[in-house]
Amino acid sequence: MWRNSEARYGLVAMSLHWLVAVLAIALFGLGLWMVELTYYDAWYRTAPWIHKSLGVLVFIGLLTRLLWRTLDPPPPPEATLNRFEHLASRLVHALLYLLLFGITISGYLISTADGKPVEVFGLFSVPATLTGLPGQADRAGDLHLVLAISLMVFASIHALAALKHHFIDRDRTLLRMFGRTRG
Ligand code: HEM
Repeated sequence: MWRNSEARYGLVAMSLHWLVAVLAIALFGLGLWMVELTYYDAWYRTAPWIHKSLGVLVFIGLLTRLLWRTLDPPPPPEATLNRFEHLASRLVHALLYLLLFGITISGYLISTADGKPVEVFGLFSVPATLTGLPGQADRAGDLHLVLAISLMVFASIHALAALKHHFIDRDRTLLRMFGRTRG
């Protein structure tokens, strides 16, 4: 149940996949909204605080997920996948992981550019390490936005591919990410 089997993802891999997916999409919306707020908005301080705290949780989720993946490898691809689909899915999965890392690290570099730590829901804080690089906050900010948009583009392609497998190919690719072994 907790671990992956030949036919489906297990509870740990599934929970981490859906948790990171929901957080990544929510953080994208929150990020675009919060940069438009002005000093007099009630959410001016709270929205970035939530955005940064959730961003650190995504980073922790990501590390946990990759560590867990080495202990509990994913099920082999469905037999219906051709060579192109197999290669494309592996490439896109690797890219999604890389983009998530790039986004969380660039976010950390924006927040800590002035030497202040990142506070996570008032529970703990992540200290600043690399600070004061020339134009650090602006450059990391530009990168953060480009990577976040790229993540949304590739996550959409990825989600469309999963839906195509479900509704057109009628295989178990999507169902097994919900822990189901049959339709
Ligand atoms: C930002 C959003 C998302 C991210 C970052 C993401 C990321 C990933 C990654 C990295 C994997 C590979 C898991 C592994 O290591 O084996 C994966 C697998 C999967 N994802 Fe997503 N995902 C997102 C959203 C979605 C959505 C919306 C759907 C469904 C509509 C979906 C369906 C699936 C399925 C079915 C698999 C398993 C594919 C297989 O069995 O080969 N994902 N996802």
